[in-house]
Amino acid sequence: MRVTMIGAGYVGLVSGACFADFGHHVTCVDKDARKVAALNRGEVPIFEPGLAELVDANVRQQRLQFAVDTAAVNDAEAVFIAVGTPSRRGDGHADLSFVYDAVREIAPLLAATAVVVTKSTVPVGTGDEIERILREKRPDADIQVVSNPEFLREGAAIQDFKHPDRIVIGTADAGARAVLAEVYRPLYLNAPPMFYVSRRTAELIKYAANAFLATKISFINEVADLCEQVGADVNEVARGIGMDNRIGGKFLHAGPGFGGSCFPKDTSALLKTAQDHGVPLRIVEAVAAVNDQRKRAMSRKVVAALDGSVRGKTIAVLGLTFKPNTDDTRDSPAIPLITALEDLGAKVRAYDPAGMEQAKPHLPGVQYCGNAYDAAEGAHAVVIATEWEQFRALDLGRLRSAMAQPVIVDLRNVYRADEMRRAQFRYVAVGRPGVD
Ligand code: UGA
Repeated sequence: MRVTMIGAGYVGLVSGACFADFGHHVTCVDKDARKVAALNRGEVPIFEPGLAELVDANVRQQRLQFAVDTAAVNDAEAVFIAVGTPSRRGDGHADLSFVYDAVREIAPLLAATAVVVTKSTVPVGTGDEIERILREKRPDADIQVVSNPEFLREGAAIQDFKHPDRIVIGTADAGARAVLAEVYRPLYLNAPPMFYVSRRTAELIKYAANAFLATKISFINEVADLCEQVGADVNEVARGIGMDNRIGGKFLHAGPGFGGSCFPKDTSALLKTAQDHGVPLRIVEAVAAVNDQRKRAMSRKVVAALDGSVRGKTIAVLGLTFKPNTDDTRDSPAIPLITALEDLGAKVRAYDPAGMEQAKPHLPGVQYCGNAYDAAEGAHAVVIATEWEQFRALDLGRLRSAMAQPVIVDLRNVYRADEMRRAQFRYVAVGRPGVD
């Protein structure tokens, strides 16, 4: 099939590369000429395990190409819109200007029977507006508009795309459903459920899924706070409740709060949609508020671990990205944590395997280091802010000898108290007993 992807950002690039790998002929269109040129040379501008290899292989086999010009849409059977929908400055609504601009631009070029598919996360009703624009600009054509939200995670994007839990197809039109079934046909071997629903339902499924996952995280984070007060262990509480299939064990890791390009933005946009319709979602409101307060509040843990003050002290922060296996620092909990520590008079040294370049503009006062041990040099505490694999098995002896004093604040619960006791560290975790 001929597929065009509008937008070569995270979702567009991963989806485009995977569709090409399925055997389709894919053109990814992006306005950024430098990015397009780099991609055509096989250079991938984002850090995502396996993506560079996938892009390279499919470019070489001439199933995947990149273009600045939208002309490629004219012979595409399916045109996916995967442009950004950032939070609109000021009000938290999703900014849909990139989506509508793209639709206006491609409208005159589309084949009369093309199917336009939104993969971008867009509020309920966006598909209706896209349809309105297309009807206005192309009264001659019968272009169907489908919602096909994407559920992939950064850091596991290709695996998630190729082994989805479900594929949600939002359209009532039988012809459009058949086109989407054909696009995803190569996945039939893995037999993911194809879930056909109305377009508005599909749009809402995406937001409800992210809001529910965010709810699990804020829930367990509040339970972690309670565990600290009553002397319980949140990891065991999470396992204990997760063994109940109705609850499920995933997304119950307590930590410094959720970040990234999706949960904070999507919970905010969902709240705006709900308010506009006079249906406040009070649980989601609380989820967002709990998370916002939590990130900066993590600095209090560091202060407590250092007997009440970080003024004049050096803190080593390991991990700046919002989670491992990405270079993305958007809404990363490490950023408000570090600014809070700096506001309290601490000097911060930091190391991240992939996110330091992205963090620099937000954290100009930080001393960036070459590895975890270098960051720990002269530090009064090491804070683990992101659970990168390489921070899970640190040489604790080496770390301790680099530090001014042996204190670890483990905001991702990657270590056990007994190993910290043996290594003679003061150890503070999240929702679990530490070592004094
Ligand atoms: C999230 C969803 O998981 C994807 O299904 C969705 O497609 C994507 O948003 C999107 O809408 O595009 P992502 O933002 O890449 O994916 O990352 P997650 O793995 O979901 O993690 C989000 C944040 O929650 C991270 O800061 C992570 O550290 C935190 N988290 C996650 C926890 O604190 N505890 C957990 O148990 C799980």
